[in-house]
Amino acid sequence: MKIAKTVGILGIAVAGFSLASCGAGGENQGLEFAPQMYHSVAYEPLTQITDFETKGDLISTREDGKGEYFNSNINNPHNMNMREPVANTVPRDKNGYLPYRYKAFEVEESASTKNPIKLDDAVLTEGKRLFQLYCTPCHGAGGEGDGTVGNIIGGVANLKGGAYLGLSEGHIYHVVMKGKGRMGAHGSQITPENIWKIVHYVKQDLQGGQNADTAVAEVSDQDVTQVETPAN
Ligand code: HEC
Repeated sequence: MKIAKTVGILGIAVAGFSLASCGAGGENQGLEFAPQMYHSVAYEPLTQITDFETKGDLISTREDGKGEYFNSNINNPHNMNMREPVANTVPRDKNGYLPYRYKAFEVEESASTKNPIKLDDAVLTEGKRLFQLYCTPCHGAGGEGDGTVGNIIGGVANLKGGAYLGLSEGHIYHVVMKGKGRMGAHGSQITPENIWKIVHYVKQDLQGGQNADTAVAEVSDQDVTQVETPAN
């Protein structure tokens, strides 16, 4: 008898708890079990709530009234969570490189950019490895535009031929970074340092050191075989 009663009370308690947890709807997320697991204690970097009454203790259940996450930082200007960059400064990456500012269409201007990486055998070996990783699918192992993917999409530049031999290092860097015509941009996949290593490899090994670090040579659209892309 006693056991049945206890089970009955427990049953009611469980049913009550389940019902209470189901109150979600509209803006209300319902009862959260262990909210610390969902809400980061860190500042939320891209939020900025300047409500001085709540000041970040929006979901606080703590006795001291402090928020479980912080939506405004009263020590920063405008209560922003992210810091403003120091006035009149330009960010550099860990190698000291400035941001690459040329837009995709500013190909001619890019020719004046110099390769900041000193050329040596180790750089060439690494450049070759990176070229094989990122470029051979289209340009082929020898750079002649005959990679497996290149054969399918067609119109891939033969880096060993014609006017391509005259391309400046800055120009090649630009094309890899921003893309050109049918070649997509690789700036988000390859670091600036690695692109410059690939550029060394292309100029020194594939193109036999021709016109390395010289002014831009024009490559007209006619140099690229125009081939229709088959439907995927
Ligand atoms: C998805 C295929 C693809 C990949 C991957 C690719 N390319 Fe290209 N590349 C092309 C095509 C297509 C062209 C011809 C672009 C055009 O003018 O329409 C081209 C053109 C070029 C040119 C000539 C640019 C000019 O001014 O005409 C250079 C230099 C070049 N690629 C270097 C590279 C390097 C270095 C890599 C590796 C980081 C690379 N490409 C990866 C497809 C590719």
